Amino acid sequence: MNILLLDACVSTNHPSRTRILCENYMEQYKTTQDEIAHVVLEDLGLAPLTTQMLEKRNKLIEEQKYDDEMFALARQFQKADRVILAAPFWDMTFPSVVKIYIEQIMIGGITFKYEDNSAVGLCQADKLVYIMTAGGYVGEQNLGYEYIKSIADMLGIEETELYCGEGLDIWGADVDKILEDVCQEMHVPNGI
Ligand SMILES: Cc1cc2nc3c(=O)[nH]c(=O)nc-3n(C[C@H](O)[C@H](O)[C@H](O)COP(=O)(O)O)c2cc1C
Repeated sequence: MNILLLDACVSTNHPSRTRILCENYMEQYKTTQDEIAHVVLEDLGLAPLTTQMLEKRNKLIEEQKYDDEMFALARQFQKADRVILAAPFWDMTFPSVVKIYIEQIMIGGITFKYEDNSAVGLCQADKLVYIMTAGGYVGEQNLGYEYIKSIADMLGIEETELYCGEGLDIWGADVDKILEDVCQEMHVPNGI
């Protein structure tokens, strides 16, 4: 299996608690033949789409030049058999680098297409796993996860799974215990 690990752990916590959860989750793949592409989003140096970039992109799509370098991330995402996204809870969603990454992969003709005026996903992943931690309590409306779920749905990824460690920054919080509980939920041995 081709696993795409999207690491959006922008953090001043060393190590990031979200990344700790993610590393524990990834342990299960270490003994398998699976290939893991670990993409650290902040290292990609991505910029938000500008008018100029959008014009270039539209032209490439019009000419069906899908092998252009501009679409490398979209091609990689489309081919992944499973996607794991680790992102801390920021300002009710996630760090903006996640949104910028999504702008890069939403390419008509690669990750989705339009059929009878509605989008049909072209991605082959069976599942998207979303791993996050939050300083407070997220509550019923997890806007980051809901958004990612909608994106997965549009791209043809039918299943999503959420693992969330909450309340980490609340005074007196037992951070290790919170992370251990999430590891249990993940059914992975915890190395916290
Ligand atoms: C820029 C920024 C924005 C944040 N926004 C929120 C927020 O809206 N709600 C919340 O509960 N915690 C918020 N937090 C706290 C983080 O969610 C929390 O510390 C999380 O565990 C950080 O993950 P990390 O240890 O992987 O960096 C924010 C933290 C930062 C740095």
